[in-house]
Amino acid sequence: MNKDFLSILDLDGVEIERTISDALRLKGMKARGEAHELLRAKSLGMIFEKASTRTRVSFEAGMADLGGHALFLNPQDMQLGRGEEIRDTARALSRYLDGVMIRAYRHATIEEYARYSSIPVINGLSDTEHPCQVLADIMTIRERFGSPDGLRIAWVGDGNNVCNSLILSSALTGMEISVASPPAYRPKERVVERAKAAGGRIRICTAPPDAVRDADVIYTDIWVSMGDEAERAERMRAFTGYTVDEGLVERASSGAVVMHCLPAHRGEEITDAVLEGPHSIVWDQAENRLHAQKALLVRLMTGAGVPEEH
Ligand code: CP
Ligand code: NVA
Repeated sequence: MNKDFLSILDLDGVEIERTISDALRLKGMKARGEAHELLRAKSLGMIFEKASTRTRVSFEAGMADLGGHALFLNPQDMQLGRGEEIRDTARALSRYLDGVMIRAYRHATIEEYARYSSIPVINGLSDTEHPCQVLADIMTIRERFGSPDGLRIAWVGDGNNVCNSLILSSALTGMEISVASPPAYRPKERVVERAKAAGGRIRICTAPPDAVRDADVIYTDIWVSMGDEAERAERMRAFTGYTVDEGLVERASSGAVVMHCLPAHRGEEITDAVLEGPHSIVWDQAENRLHAQKALLVRLMTGAGVPEEH
């Protein structure tokens, strides 16, 4: 097991499977009201350069469930905001904490932090990946379909951070992914090549109906990610025709589900009818952030999975 979780590829296929099995057990324990304080007296620092609802609350509630503690750290309130170097922050916090989660604009910031941190570092979203999201998504897909292996997943919209982690995950799970994006917003070639080199099956196309044909899962995300706000007008133009609506969902397999990492912009990347409709599993996805991250935290902070007696 790697020290850090910066990319979904920091777990191999076996580790993904074990982490999700642990997450499912932790979910059952929580539902039954059974204590599972596996990280008693451990502390997680959470550095957020950008906004968050799900990531912040699921990590904080997860640490509380596990008997530990989470600290919300706004860089503007830290010496980081006054120019202290990342490498100095990383070494100081390593002396107090048992793990750090960072949401940053630049992936390189998280990589630099991890280089100097002697405790596990978790990527809570960067410009290139959102591995915690995709770990929870694989769990949600497994709950729904039994196994992700052999499933077809269609990504419709921006080839962004969530899309990248999903593409990379296809190398670990056996899912085949088709991405429909306007040519200027396709996922980065190096991400696709990396996924293919690791055994992933990826198809890139332009028209959403081509991607969703025979799909078991349709996945979309906002057209204007955090940090892309200045491009809003041109993105709105470029993504016209990429809305996941009922007509598009009808073109997928009959039992297809619709996923969205949230937050959603109804009427842009997804219609209200689809988000609230029978195919949508977005609230299960959001819930599973909690369970998947708890399982991840236990592995990273203890070096082991959830013990059998739990
Ligand atoms: N999906 C997700 O990461 O949501 P937040 O931005 O609310 O954390
Ligand atoms: N792609 C989105 C995901 C938000 C959870 C963003 O980066 O803003």
